Amino acid sequence: MFVLAHLSDPHLVPLPEASLAELMGKRATGYFNWRVRRGGRHRSDVLERVVGDLLAQTPHHIAVTGDLANLSLAAEFAPARAFLARLAPPEHVTVVPGNHDAYVRAEALTHLSAWREYLSGDAAEEPRFPFVRKRGPVALIGLSTALPTLPLSSAGRLGRAQIEALAGMLADLQTEGLFRVVLIHHPPAGRRAFHKRLIDAAAFRAAIAEHGAELVLHGHDHRASLLEIAGPRGPVPVVGVPSASATADDPRGRGGYNLYRIAGRPGAWQVEIERRGLDAAGNNVVVLEQLTLGAEPAAPIVARPAAPKRRPKVSAARTPARRRTAKRSRPARR
Ligand SMILES: [Fe+2]
Repeated sequence: MFVLAHLSDPHLVPLPEASLAELMGKRATGYFNWRVRRGGRHRSDVLERVVGDLLAQTPHHIAVTGDLANLSLAAEFAPARAFLARLAPPEHVTVVPGNHDAYVRAEALTHLSAWREYLSGDAAEEPRFPFVRKRGPVALIGLSTALPTLPLSSAGRLGRAQIEALAGMLADLQTEGLFRVVLIHHPPAGRRAFHKRLIDAAAFRAAIAEHGAELVLHGHDHRASLLEIAGPRGPVPVVGVPSASATADDPRGRGGYNLYRIAGRPGAWQVEIERRGLDAAGNNVVVLEQLTLGAEPAAPIVARPAAPKRRPKVSAARTPARRRTAKRSRPARR
């Protein structure tokens, strides 16, 4: 069994001091937003508890789907690197950037050098998207949707070249019989507000529809969610997690992360998803939910051209391929 942990959107605090010059342009609205609203929703003590619990599960690998930074201030990248180093050595941690990691043009590429070892493929010294890292039965494919946008926009884009390369990788990795996990910051399924959307989500979904994948993991929403993209052999799960540092009163979801226990073989994979996060009082990290995917024969392709406005939680089984489990947490085996 391979155990993969997935955390996202830590939005590390405290925000470093910024000069007036740094707060010009898009950062001005972002800074205001941070001071009046966003900043209060992320706490370092929550992140400490979440990370402590995650490390206690001894996952084989940790995926971080972006938004380590807040305004992409130059002074934010070194603390973010220290945060990653605390998780595990770079060979055990894979990162993809979020929109807050490339917030403004001046620092749009800083994450590539600052976090280089965490977002480079096995075959490359320098970060290049998409990249592939193979770990046991799992292939992690890292994508970048991060680009500087106009004020009040947090949209993302992959671009045609990245999607074409992704399609080729998915095909090759399937031939190798690997469990393909796609990491992407922006949610590629479901309907989103115009200013928050993944601009070329339809092209991404078309690549998945043709070549399939075993899991797509994302952040950005700061919510636990489970949607699907129709794949060639059945629905491909698309899973979102809350911000790892969200306070207990964040209406989108308390701080937490997911564990994926991956077992089986090509064509007959099983994945148990365990949601872990703060309890209602905000004191302890507990098991919030468990469900198993792929425990029964694959369901027919489920077309989901338009997602529901209300984003479903990771909860009810919606296809025959899913069944909820009532098991309690157990230690991850290595
Ligand atoms: Fe975020």
